[in-house]
Amino acid sequence: MAETKAERWNRVYRETTAYPQPNPQLLRYRALLPAAGRALDLACGLGADGLYLAEQGFETEAWDASSVAIARLAAEASRRNTLITTRCVQVSPAAFTSETFDLIYVRRFLDRALFPTIITSLALGGVLFYETFADTHNKDVVASGPKNPDYRLSVNELLQLCEPLVVRLFIDGFQIGSDQDTQPAGQSLIIAQKPPA
Ligand SMILES: C[S@@+](CC[C@H](N)C(=O)[O-])C[C@H]1O[C@@H](n2cnc3c(N)ncnc32)[C@H](O)[C@@H]1O
Repeated sequence: MAETKAERWNRVYRETTAYPQPNPQLLRYRALLPAAGRALDLACGLGADGLYLAEQGFETEAWDASSVAIARLAAEASRRNTLITTRCVQVSPAAFTSETFDLIYVRRFLDRALFPTIITSLALGGVLFYETFADTHNKDVVASGPKNPDYRLSVNELLQLCEPLVVRLFIDGFQIGSDQDTQPAGQSLIIAQKPPA
């Protein structure tokens, strides 16, 4: 029988030995994010970025559909003595409550239908950090990540999905240097703020 998506992610996380480092773009643009407050790492995987946010002083929740990833994250948080609320959940608009977040962080996950709920779930003045796979502007560049357009943004699309927000930073399908870690080809990043009242 074919492996389900959840089974595939569980296998990937079982096979991942080294715990990942936080996203270099998150460290680079930390100053554009709120100083502290409530944060959500959505589709967090092993949650290295959520842990970083918790260690930065955010009251952090980390959600993912993979039970293996969530169990490993909880164990890593306990090993580091870091407080983080983990939730194993198939994310959909119904997974959100009326609680708001000062920072919603998403990396390498795309569900276009979630954008209105994500934006509603930002507190006034709250910030969205969203980075995921996107078409490149340069046909010669081999982009990393999925080929399926369901999981890959088109040019300028992230900007359109965040239209109600005030853009602080937008880099589309970028590759500036040759370092794939700090300048990955075929990813877009937006940091955008919900206007304060
Ligand atoms: C490419 S990984 C990215 C993980 C992490 N954000 C990172 O950058 O390392 C995509 C993650 O999305 C999760 N995922 C996919 N669909 C999901 C859904 N509907 N609800 C919650 N998590 C989901 C998978 O379990 C997987 O951990």
